[in-house]
Amino acid sequence: MSSPFIFLLVVLLHSPAIPASASRCTATVFGRTFAKCVGLPTQGATLAWTYHARNATLDLAFSGSFISPSGWVAWGLNPDSPSMTGARVVAAFSDPSSGGLILLPFFLDPSVKLQQSPLLSRPFGPHLLSSSAALRHAAAVSAGAGVHIFATLKLSPNHTRLHHVWNRGLYVQGYSPTIHPTSPADLASRATIDIVSTATEAAGPSPSSEVALRSTHAALNAASWGILLPAGVAVARYLRQPLGPSWFFLHAAVQIAGYLMGAAGFAIGIVMGARSEGVEYGLHRGLGVAAVVGGGLQSAALLLRPKTTNKYRKYWKSYHHLVGYGSMVVGVVNVFQGFDVMGLGRSYWKLAYCLGLSTVVGVCVALEVNSWVVFCRRAASEDDDDDEGRRRLETKRAGKENT
Ligand SMILES: *[C@@H]1O[C@H](CO)[C@@H](O)[C@H](O)[C@H]1NC(C)=O
Ligand SMILES: *[C@@H]1O[C@H](CO)[C@@H](O)[C@H](O)[C@H]1NC(C)=O
Repeated sequence: MSSPFIFLLVVLLHSPAIPASASRCTATVFGRTFAKCVGLPTQGATLAWTYHARNATLDLAFSGSFISPSGWVAWGLNPDSPSMTGARVVAAFSDPSSGGLILLPFFLDPSVKLQQSPLLSRPFGPHLLSSSAALRHAAAVSAGAGVHIFATLKLSPNHTRLHHVWNRGLYVQGYSPTIHPTSPADLASRATIDIVSTATEAAGPSPSSEVALRSTHAALNAASWGILLPAGVAVARYLRQPLGPSWFFLHAAVQIAGYLMGAAGFAIGIVMGARSEGVEYGLHRGLGVAAVVGGGLQSAALLLRPKTTNKYRKYWKSYHHLVGYGSMVVGVVNVFQGFDVMGLGRSYWKLAYCLGLSTVVGVCVALEVNSWVVFCRRAASEDDDDDEGRRRLETKRAGKENT
């Protein structure tokens, strides 16, 4: 059951990003003429700029478009890497009190991806000398309305390779832009551009090694902690009767395979954590460690298993069940946490995983019902046997009295 699922997951995780189609740019934006321009790889956005090398000042115009009347469009720079986390951005949207267009600065710290709290405006920093926004051919924000974001930035001398990020979303809550769509193209809205040479490195989704690492981490962990280990628990619970003594070998084999896969996925996660400096997913990491420790305890418990005749056997069994069910729940919760961390809270990947998990749960429910039916039937037939016995006894007794 799990192997087609793993296959599906791997296929989904490797599905290529929508081919980048850079839009054509113009150097004259809203009546201002800039020295250079490039079409950005996604969302039909463009960037035009003039760099004054003498005073290291960058005049820049970003052009994008809204996707809804209550939406937002944002552009920004990331000092460290071409990624969303750690970027300082300015977002244009319709002011909820005046209805006019406003531009507010935001800092996208690692917690933004988790969407635990509304995004609040934070100062861009001293590098932003000025900024403004203007609608293109439109009086008000609407779906498809073009918008220009102008910014003048003071750069460090000779620092000309800049990591740009941009995006747009459907909805602003109060003054907090909410999450943008998460299609591959939307997630690839970042590029590193040398403002002197115009050399543009579209981010692609990420360096391919990183994508491979992330996909492997996700596939291994979703398949092991998320599917295989819970399925192994189900084997122990439901297949004891039908399989006879061999249930134990199946249970142990599934759990050992699942744990080895899960431990490999965990190790990859640790490597990813070490590589992404400044980005920390405390809860995801904590739950991962808890699941691995729980699984390790289970392996140790297997080696220290008392014989069935030992009087401590029942305590061992309770312990084994407690740690097992605990680790299973933590593992599954952490798979969902992982989807959130990757910004895949509303993706087909998560849907695929949910289908896999609900298959396991569905099979468990069916087996649970079946075991109750079997139990009740047996109880009923035992009653019947008793009745039969009693009747026979009574007939015999009656016969004796007759004689
Ligand atoms: C930087 O130099 C350019 C011309 O070389 C000038 O137009 C601009 O105002 C200067 N900016 C600052 C912040 O000094
Ligand atoms: C920047 O580069 C120019 C030419 O490559 C060089 O002359 C200058 O010293 C550099 N400035 C700094 C601050 O590194």
